[in-house]
Amino acid sequence: MYYNWTEKTNTEELKIVCNLIRNGELVIFPTETVYGIGANALDENAVGKIFIAKGRPSDNPLIVHLADRRKIEEIAQDITEVERKLIDAFMPGPFTIILKRKPIVPDIVTAGLDTVAVRIPENVIARGIITFSGVPIAAPSANVSGKPSGTNIKDIRKELEGKVSVIVDGGETQIGLESTVVKVIDEVPVILRPGKVTPEEIEKVTGIVKIDKNIFGRISQNDIVESPGMKYRHYAPETSCKLIYCQDDLDQVFYLKKFVKEYQGNVVVIGFKEHEEKLLLDSERFISVGKKDDLESFAKNIYSALRKADEIKPREILIEGVKKEGLGYAIMNRLIRTCEHNFFEKQ
Ligand code: TXA
Ligand code: MG
Repeated sequence: MYYNWTEKTNTEELKIVCNLIRNGELVIFPTETVYGIGANALDENAVGKIFIAKGRPSDNPLIVHLADRRKIEEIAQDITEVERKLIDAFMPGPFTIILKRKPIVPDIVTAGLDTVAVRIPENVIARGIITFSGVPIAAPSANVSGKPSGTNIKDIRKELEGKVSVIVDGGETQIGLESTVVKVIDEVPVILRPGKVTPEEIEKVTGIVKIDKNIFGRISQNDIVESPGMKYRHYAPETSCKLIYCQDDLDQVFYLKKFVKEYQGNVVVIGFKEHEEKLLLDSERFISVGKKDDLESFAKNIYSALRKADEIKPREILIEGVKKEGLGYAIMNRLIRTCEHNFFEKQ
């Protein structure tokens, strides 16, 4: 089934969606970050269906979505002072916190870890579905495992149609990148996955913040990591991708042109509006993610741009990088994975 709630939530349909969740079915729904594939987090069988629909490795745990802060203690325990500060400052919002789990959370959700990832989305549709279902909802991003997350229904339908009971359309997601994931270790918040909530913002609340060393590093299957999701190929189309970042704009355009030539023009460039004319490519070979200084636009458009570029099947997708600060941290963390470290950088 497909429900269009882009204008407004339909209450009759909302009842149907919530019944489906309670009955152990899968529902694709929007959040402010990316779309999620949700199921009743307390129902092992239902959660099992998520792993099958996505082709997701079973050792990669899921985020449990709640309607409000009072529900956190139903699934987590021993919340510390620092954790409480973070919860109060950033939830609801594009923020996920790893907490000590309660036994009520099935192993399949946490991949057997003694922690559980908790998020309270701000998006009205997401909150409506969670509230009226009356159960916590386990939901990974709506995409086949390894692919970029789904940020609009057109992309999601191509990839997941027929694999879930209902798809709820809430329009394009606002942010376009997944939530910031934080775990407090020895009273210090450690960012396991950067997102819209930046290290700078977290530091303001807790006075200190760390960024996990694996965020920009290479990880192999046998490495021990704080977040299992770090190990897997991610955010990647079929086509090979190259990331290009030069601090100086003239250099950036120079190297973009150089790589375009190296691939005899058989490329798609995902880049800044200002560079479009300078590259002299056919219009379908340049996909703009917005103006150079507009990181929010970049975040919002990057996943659909990657899918669109992949459809053209060029030899290489060339992607313009950004400075690693603020939201740029999250963007570069995803793109370095997209490109599997095929990264040209000039400071
Ligand atoms: O914005 C988002 O977070 C979206 C929307 C739908 O809420 N969800 C999302 O879920 O991105 P997913 O499953 O694609 O990514 C969850 C990440 C994975 O990298 C996973 O390894 C990590 O969170 N994670 C989940 N539980 C964890 C835990 N207990 N400890 C450490 N990392 C955990
Ligand atoms: Mg994901």
